[in-house]
Amino acid sequence: MRKPIIAGNWKMNKTAAEAKAFAEAVKGAIPSKDIVDSVVGSPALFIQELVAEAKGTELQISAQNCYFENAGAFTGETSPAALADLGVTYVIIGHSERREYFHETDEDINKKAKAIFANGMTPILCCGESLETYEAGKTAEWIEGQITAGLSGLTDAQVSELVIAYEPIWAIGTGKSADANIADDICGVVRATVEKLYGKEVAEKVRIQYGGSVKPENIAEYLAKENVDGALVGGASLEPQSFLALLEAVK
Ligand code: G3P
Repeated sequence: MRKPIIAGNWKMNKTAAEAKAFAEAVKGAIPSKDIVDSVVGSPALFIQELVAEAKGTELQISAQNCYFENAGAFTGETSPAALADLGVTYVIIGHSERREYFHETDEDINKKAKAIFANGMTPILCCGESLETYEAGKTAEWIEGQITAGLSGLTDAQVSELVIAYEPIWAIGTGKSADANIADDICGVVRATVEKLYGKEVAEKVRIQYGGSVKPENIAEYLAKENVDGALVGGASLEPQSFLALLEAVK
């Protein structure tokens, strides 16, 4: 039985005061970690404050990106070692916005996954296809390619710990979600790819989220599907009540 993981991805939103107010509002109501992993993916700027606010609660803090080196002359980058030192437990990597606007390659993402594991954190590795690929009926091969490249060289133990988020690009921030059957099918492709590369035992352990216009009103449909172990949520994770309602759906 895989434990659900619900992660908010705030993207480039909020000020420090707003991030603090969010944490104050939700921290008393986070469900037990035995039931669900409750994660907020914050801009790097607010992580320290959020970790402090979340202390003693089951709220976990994720970064939205990091570099693959721990230190050195990499102006503007964020060190995975420094994130781990702050108390970050997850790092989102390979989000389609980073692939598209910041030209991240599968190779970069793979190096980041290794660096995140090396620092004792867990990557949330995103994959997803464009509308063009979806309409051409090439989603499965696209996803298989992204997963194979993203996992290259990772160990069985690492992949067992990993979280993979399937986010069809055409469903992100568009209000147009992939229906739960499509999400289940493609999350199934992700799991089958992991099985092909690492065997059944590892594939049964890896957690796979769906992301793309998930909200309190529709999250239960996704969570009910066999291959969907949680959600990566943008817009609907920004407000405390909405974030708590997403977590509530797991109980
Ligand atoms: O990473 C979450 C995301 O890309 C989905 O965003 O706003 O459609 O939930 P949204």
